Amino acid sequence: MKIRTLSILLLICVIILCAAYVSAGAGQRPQGLKKLSIEDKIEKLLRKMTIEEKIGQMTQYSWRSGSEDYHKHLRRLAGEGKVGSFLNLTPGICVKERNELQKIATEQSPSGIPLIFGFDVIHGYRTVFPIPLAQSCMWDLDLAAKAASVAAAEASSDGYDWTFAPMVDIARDPRWGRIAESFGEDPYLASVFAAAKVRGFQGRNLADPRTLVACLKHYAAYGAAEAGKDYNTCEVSERTLREVYLPPFKAGVDAGAATLMSGFNEISGIPTSGNRHILTDILRDEWKFDGFVVSDYNSVAQLITHGFAEDYGDAAQKAATAGVDMVMESEKCLKELQRLVKTGKVSEKVIDQAVRRILRIKFRAGLFDHPYVDPNLSESVILSKEHLQTAREVAKKSMVLLKNDSSLLPLRKDIKTLALIGPLADNQKDLLGTWAGAGRSGDVVTVRKAIREKLLPQSRLLYAKGCGIQDDSTEGFNEAVKIANQSDMVILAVGESEKMSGEGHSRAYLDLPEVQKKLVKKIHATGKPVIVVLFSGRPLSISWLKENIPAILLAWHPGVQGGNAVADILFGDYNPSGKLTTTFPRTVGQVPIYYNHKNTGRPPREKDRYTSRYIDISWTPLFPFGYGLSYTTFEYKNLKVNPNKIVLGQPITVTIDVQNTGERAGEEVVQLYIRDLVASVTRPVKELKGFRKISLKPKQKKKVSFTITSEQLSFCNQEMKFVTEPGDFKIWVGPDSVRGLQGDFKIVPPK
Ligand code: NOJ
Repeated sequence: MKIRTLSILLLICVIILCAAYVSAGAGQRPQGLKKLSIEDKIEKLLRKMTIEEKIGQMTQYSWRSGSEDYHKHLRRLAGEGKVGSFLNLTPGICVKERNELQKIATEQSPSGIPLIFGFDVIHGYRTVFPIPLAQSCMWDLDLAAKAASVAAAEASSDGYDWTFAPMVDIARDPRWGRIAESFGEDPYLASVFAAAKVRGFQGRNLADPRTLVACLKHYAAYGAAEAGKDYNTCEVSERTLREVYLPPFKAGVDAGAATLMSGFNEISGIPTSGNRHILTDILRDEWKFDGFVVSDYNSVAQLITHGFAEDYGDAAQKAATAGVDMVMESEKCLKELQRLVKTGKVSEKVIDQAVRRILRIKFRAGLFDHPYVDPNLSESVILSKEHLQTAREVAKKSMVLLKNDSSLLPLRKDIKTLALIGPLADNQKDLLGTWAGAGRSGDVVTVRKAIREKLLPQSRLLYAKGCGIQDDSTEGFNEAVKIANQSDMVILAVGESEKMSGEGHSRAYLDLPEVQKKLVKKIHATGKPVIVVLFSGRPLSISWLKENIPAILLAWHPGVQGGNAVADILFGDYNPSGKLTTTFPRTVGQVPIYYNHKNTGRPPREKDRYTSRYIDISWTPLFPFGYGLSYTTFEYKNLKVNPNKIVLGQPITVTIDVQNTGERAGEEVVQLYIRDLVASVTRPVKELKGFRKISLKPKQKKKVSFTITSEQLSFCNQEMKFVTEPGDFKIWVGPDSVRGLQGDFKIVPPK
């Protein structure tokens, strides 16, 4: 009996010892951190770390850019604790690479700190969603968040912890290629989208392995690039910075974004990766951000090219002391930084602060507890049925119906013969759009395939490419004209390739490429009813199309489910509800053109030359901000502003009745704009302050209500403080930034 008890005890001891050994092995170092708070764990680690290791944490390398020798070198650095993060693992073998590198970092490096792996998951991972600019046209925050959570689930299952998204730069210039990655021109809309995306990527708990650490970029004002040229100078006043460019970052920080990326640009003479004012005074001191900042690719070394730093050491010192914590691909700068700390030129306190912030996020992201990713996970997650359904939903809701004369759309599924023409009609790759994550063209449903599936079997679908996207050949025109003539109706799928927008892809012309303009004119000349489906990564100046083509559907770059979404709309299975979040100019000469401009002392007036206008074209846009049609119609009635006189600090309630006056169910984005008529600094002619997306059955009416707080009416005064001033305000509630019912209210000072 005793012997049995003893052997059981012995067995238990062995099991306990084995378990202890295994658990020590799994997270071999750092030990003894379990019970401490995150802040205590950080301090404990910091005390042990050498300066090489600390600077290692601040170092991020791109994995994909290297040869096998280079990869060996990077593995060695990981084992020595001289790297804190990698970006761009190799598609297809990400998890394997991640787990190997993570094992080296956690088991061989002196402090055993896990690596964090980043990637540009901008609008989906394998399930590619519409570009962010398109997504903003949904005006649907829950769906935008859902798209981000799908992207997070897929990318995290494939070995990533961190996305360099959302990009929350305000973009007022469609020449700038990166407008595609933005949420458009409006600070309010971009702010609510920034918060929604952060919620979507990061979930409720950053330590949940299905989430990604979000990164607000590019901090800040990168979208103000002069002449729309990427990486260009940004000349932005402190007020414009705070009122226009910073709000989406602040909203993202308030939503809990764990990281930010400093940009390539300068702001009024100070490059952002060396800009203490934005990185420390505003971000840390004012906003209390406690996560970390990573600099954009090589932007620290580029402080030298800007003429802001003398050499690598100077650049590193300026970046680190300004508030950059992790440096993306500027190895030489970090080597110099090490030397500068050793010689006392840079205080170790600066380095400790950066490392603290990085470790904080690594702890919050659960990397110390779950350093590895299950290699079998991604198979069941990536491109799941549910993810593809969400992508189709998002794509449908992102598209904007720009024109629909005589209700040409929707089409009947029993149409006898339909011609489908254009370089984007049977195209997979270009529908993905810029920065398409791990997207593959083979996953994309083309317009041609989706339309064929929608049509009844007896309907004929004729197809001709007509021309390429940008080449000069018109050889395919004859065939295109021939099939147009044989058909009852023509769908023309035209626009930009995925390469025509995105980073480093600014354009000086905003027209359709020449060859496509010619094709559209040729087909139009056949006299057949023509519907244009326009694919693009930016607003295009399409005045000719607007004047001559009866129906235009803006599909943007819609992602893997793009073809299905186009077909859903063309055949009326979905009633379009998207509204523009960026103004469409008539011509590139009007750029920058945005709805929330100032009034000036001489606002434009017809036939009055000495007002703020052009002599050769109207000052108004082709399509305004907020614009988009539906297959039904909505009527706005009974605008009530209650009370219409308030004491500063009190809220105002605005209500309006919206009725579906057409024959189909539809969704409407009810938009609320205000204007502060007189203030101590001039105010925009209109500012979006709220919106509601509602669904209405035919003839159904809904009362829509908004509450406006004093805080929402604040602006940056002459002392650069956000204040709300008493005075008179106008208010509009309507379907876009031009139309709507108008009311007013007054704010009086407290007694
Ligand atoms: C440069 C881009 O500006 C940035 O947006 C991106 O996240 C990094 N490269 C990493 O790919």
